Amino acid sequence: MGIHCVAIGACGRGKMDTGVPRMAVRTCWAAAAGAAVVALLSAAIALHWPPLHAVLQRAFSLHTAHSTKDMENFFQLVRNIVPALTSKKHKGQDGRIGIVGGCQEYTGAPYFAGISALKVGADLTHVFCAREAAPVIKSYSPELIVHPVLDSSNAVEEVEKWLPRLHALVVGPGLGRDDLILNNVRGILEATKARDIPVVIDADGLWLIAQQPALIHGYQKAILTPNRVEFSRLWEAVLNDPMDTQNHSGSVLKLSQALGNTTVVQKGEHDLISNGQHVLVCSQEGSGRRCGGQGDLLSGSLGVMVHWALLAGPQKTHGSSPLLVAAWGACTLTRECNHQAFQKYGRSTTTTDMIAEVGTAFNKLFMT
Ligand SMILES: *[C@@H]1O[C@H](CO)[C@@H](O)[C@H](O)[C@H]1NC(C)=O
Ligand SMILES: *[C@@H]1O[C@H](CO)[C@@H](O)[C@H](O)[C@H]1NC(C)=O
Repeated sequence: MGIHCVAIGACGRGKMDTGVPRMAVRTCWAAAAGAAVVALLSAAIALHWPPLHAVLQRAFSLHTAHSTKDMENFFQLVRNIVPALTSKKHKGQDGRIGIVGGCQEYTGAPYFAGISALKVGADLTHVFCAREAAPVIKSYSPELIVHPVLDSSNAVEEVEKWLPRLHALVVGPGLGRDDLILNNVRGILEATKARDIPVVIDADGLWLIAQQPALIHGYQKAILTPNRVEFSRLWEAVLNDPMDTQNHSGSVLKLSQALGNTTVVQKGEHDLISNGQHVLVCSQEGSGRRCGGQGDLLSGSLGVMVHWALLAGPQKTHGSSPLLVAAWGACTLTRECNHQAFQKYGRSTTTTDMIAEVGTAFNKLFMT
């Protein structure tokens, strides 16, 4: 089986993903306009998966100015899923997102994920955390609803009560590895699947999945967002053969398939996104700055976008997997936030600076 692999966004600096198959678009233009052209060019390709060969040929012959309109299309898919702001809506319609995480040691991560979800456009964010973490998280922000239940003996029931009102769950930011908490998260994941609610899994949520892949295997509304280390751990849990470290795209595809085609986003120099069928590459220009918390911005915004994408349905995503569109949108947004914050603060950029850029980055990418 071949890989359909498409490079999207401006070319990054430095070394290329050597594993990208021959047909992928991997051309860097030095000119400033070049980056935009690559983004647009690749966007066009993504719209027309099946006859990829033909489209690539066409796209190559089209990298001249007049085809710009055609090439806007992948950004357009994300624009298509963004709900319009109208006065007819009531609070909650654009997203009620649950964040499962926050323990004694880690309180920043669930805050970052929750506030990012709000700034991207969710109406309400609920954080389900350990008792001790709750007052700390509340003190960061009056905008989050905080439930101090995650380390209680009836945590699953407490979270389950809220599930009918939640559109998506983000599991993992600041979760930690306490046995009692992880056991509760097992139950929460089972309840989430039973209700067919989309779930984004990151950080120590992925550690749990590596212990017990069956928890998520084959669940079509799950998106896992591993970094390199978390990716290797998942690989070892579900695949026997060694990972081909030269073939990043192939590895992401294989891991997704081994997990029953759950969507996997491998974060890195380029973000690679696969649903076991296609591999997308997100190379929106970010910066060399990698501060802790950036992954929480991604998981929180992905929580909202996956809800929007599923709500919009396959017509709005022109047949592309809504989960892939959401993941691509959230990766692109996170990288643009990094880029914009870096322009202002350089080496001192932190995740708080990046979150302050969510509004302008979102408008620039998706509201134009
Ligand atoms: C990368 O891995 C995929 C999936 O296993 C495979 O189809 C592809 O041929 C590999 N590419 C290279 C360049 O080895
Ligand atoms: C995953 O997707 C691939 C490619 O479409 C398909 O061949 C495979 O059967 C699927 N696996 C599962 C478990 O659905």
